[in-house]
Amino acid sequence: MLIPVLTIDGPSGAGKGTVSRLIAKKLGWHYLDSGSIYRSLAIAVQKASVGLEAVDEIVKVAQDLVLEFECGDELVVKLDGEDITSQLGLEQTGGIASQIAALPAVRQVLLKKQQDFKQLPGLVADGRDMGTVVFPDAENKVFLTASAEKRAQRRYKQLIEKEIDANLVQIIYEIEARDRRDMERATAPLAMASDALYIDSSDMTIDAVVEEVLNLIR
Ligand code: DC
Repeated sequence: MLIPVLTIDGPSGAGKGTVSRLIAKKLGWHYLDSGSIYRSLAIAVQKASVGLEAVDEIVKVAQDLVLEFECGDELVVKLDGEDITSQLGLEQTGGIASQIAALPAVRQVLLKKQQDFKQLPGLVADGRDMGTVVFPDAENKVFLTASAEKRAQRRYKQLIEKEIDANLVQIIYEIEARDRRDMERATAPLAMASDALYIDSSDMTIDAVVEEVLNLIR
């Protein structure tokens, strides 16, 4: 039976997570936050005190990765039974995730773990390579982006709301560095699938983006 898949790719901070969750909820579909898998691996690698140059050891940690996802109002992620949700959003976690995500062997190990999320009645998959590599046959693909400044402002606001110290200039710098790394890596770089709908959310509300994506599915 055909299982419908909607892929939403784009750089961090474009609103993919919020939009994907809202659409998954509206349609009653499953939700894959692929970035959280790379982020969880980054946390596991740090816990195992493995250096970022030790590729074989990172691959081994990826193979042994045991994650549980609890999708309520907020996504809860457990690593070997331990709740790591609060560490997932840290800039440091994202930075390390982006570095290990550049390793082809790591991406190969995580590919099947991501494809396993495709289950009835459907899947909304959010990431960098959902429409190009993980679900190339998806019927509906979106590439959601926004300017680096807008994405940094959103991230800054989120951090301040969580009472985490933040510096806007530093965040812009980190976002641009991460974009470059995600776009310039040799394996599965952040790129728009040729059959994806391009949406720039810089001056759009979340609701407007959700509406545009739902129109695509309809
Ligand atoms: O979407 P995010 O910021 O949570 O992703 C964290 C990092 O994980 C991102 O910098 C690159 C990597 N990633 C990836 O390479 N491929 C994906 N499909 C999702 C994330």
